Amino acid sequence: MSKCLDGKYIASLIRQEMAGETAEIAAQGKRPPCLAVIIVGHDGGSEAYVANKVKACAEVGFTSKRLAFEEDITEDLLLKQIAALNNDDSVDGFIVQLPLPRHINEQTVIEAIDYHKDVDGLHPINMGKTVLGLPCLHPATPSGIIELLDRYDIQTEGKHAVVIGRSDIVGKPIANMLLQKTRRGNATVTVCHSRTPNLTEICQTADILIAALGKPLFVKADMVKDGAVVIDVGTTRIADPTRKSGYRLCGDVDYDNVAPKCSYITPVPGGVGPMTIASLLRNTMQAYKRK
Ligand code: GUN
Repeated sequence: MSKCLDGKYIASLIRQEMAGETAEIAAQGKRPPCLAVIIVGHDGGSEAYVANKVKACAEVGFTSKRLAFEEDITEDLLLKQIAALNNDDSVDGFIVQLPLPRHINEQTVIEAIDYHKDVDGLHPINMGKTVLGLPCLHPATPSGIIELLDRYDIQTEGKHAVVIGRSDIVGKPIANMLLQKTRRGNATVTVCHSRTPNLTEICQTADILIAALGKPLFVKADMVKDGAVVIDVGTTRIADPTRKSGYRLCGDVDYDNVAPKCSYITPVPGGVGPMTIASLLRNTMQAYKRK
């Protein structure tokens, strides 16, 4: 019988820890940490994620700024907004919610962020230091996954971790973090992607399987070894007329059929998603303390 890796619960514990630290800061008469979030356009998913990030800040006593721009903002103007946040001493960290409209180069935008304020951990300096195992602001979603494994005391050393997906935001950094000579590293890591011919066979050998490809219900029961730990990073919105919102979130794992085979599995929603936000709060606290 599988156990649920309850990201929602663990994230609430991390928020309590953050709230405690914020209270200590206030007791010293200092201002609280401040996170700014840039959102471009009106993608429903992005708006919901940003709302959750702003709400999480309020819950732990951080201040936050939401800077919203229309879909047709020029790259130049967006870069000017980023430069202003880089120079704003009242802002400790900020993120630009992705994806951006097609006319804006995401890499140019990410590289424009002062890496000391890059609390998503996506800037090449933070990504590079993460790969080298150096202290920095670590990418938020992979950090959340490592934290979840840690809080459930799931061993990674010597285990075969298989990552499906090679995105800059999840696949590449989580594969590297699991390789590090750390407590939740020392795994043997395989990264699979759309051009991997024998993906099913490789997944069947995974002790830890991380699905981060963004294809709903991609991981089926026959791809999973008995007793595996399964981490589902997928969050695709699927139309669901029975819901008030008109949609539901669907992971990359066929949960109902896969869960009975696992030792541990993350639900969607309530698994990796809340942990990403918890990592963002921790990175914001880290950026705050640098000063
Ligand atoms: N879009 C989906 N996930 C993320 C994330 O972790 N950070 C940002 N900035 N955008 C995202």
